[in-house]
Amino acid sequence: MAARKPLIAGNWKMFGRQESLSEIKALWTLVESVSANVDALICPPSVYVSQALWGARGTGVVIGAQDCSAAAEDSARTGEVSAAMLADVGAKYVIVGHSERRAFHAETDEVVHRKAAAALAAGLTPIICVGETQAERTAGRVAEVVSAQVRASVPEGNSAVVVAYEPVWAIGGNSTPTIPEIAEVHALVRDTLKERFGDEANGIRILYGGSVGPKNAAEIFGAEGVDGALVGRASLKAADFAAIILGHPAAK
Ligand code: 13P
Repeated sequence: MAARKPLIAGNWKMFGRQESLSEIKALWTLVESVSANVDALICPPSVYVSQALWGARGTGVVIGAQDCSAAAEDSARTGEVSAAMLADVGAKYVIVGHSERRAFHAETDEVVHRKAAAALAAGLTPIICVGETQAERTAGRVAEVVSAQVRASVPEGNSAVVVAYEPVWAIGGNSTPTIPEIAEVHALVRDTLKERFGDEANGIRILYGGSVGPKNAAEIFGAEGVDGALVGRASLKAADFAAIILGHPAAK
């Protein structure tokens, strides 16, 4: 099987100020020794992406963004930021289809697909988020919902993507699925990616997201098929985020 370097990504969401950017260098001092084995990524709000890139100079912390326009070409889209602009300033990744964007901005799989395609066209790696709501889990519809999201949100023809499985109900709280439940969905996501990409799907990193913190990260990383994490709250402080990264078995 293709070796997949773990990716641990911090999604700062709409938190932080300029002063928060000092966390990036602080993070690097804590994780530099394991950086050959684990990729560390921070996705600050778009207004801070350039500054974060300056702040990350001389470190191995990679900087990404949290969203991009679905429009691939420069065009009249007041308030939007294109994938090409993010690539222009030096971002490497962009999160697309986060459940908060699906919920608060009514983003459909079709929109997420266009955003991911725009990211790929600009040379960015999209981190494509999928995941079921509590109601869907209770109704026993996890496999149906997640595989449909993967099929409809992941663009054809380019496997240079990351998929993040983030159960909506596990975000921002204290509960997560059990380890076997996480492993089951990750296997389902990979099988669904194989329908599209064949064996190339073995190279795609599948992250888990939703209430990952220093206390549960190592256990979650031990789940079969988990190639890293997409971390919200616990990525804002270097000490917490570093503890998560250092908890990865590849960091030992
Ligand atoms: P929390 O880690 O704060 O639960 O957020 C997860 C998330 O939504 C990351 O994208």
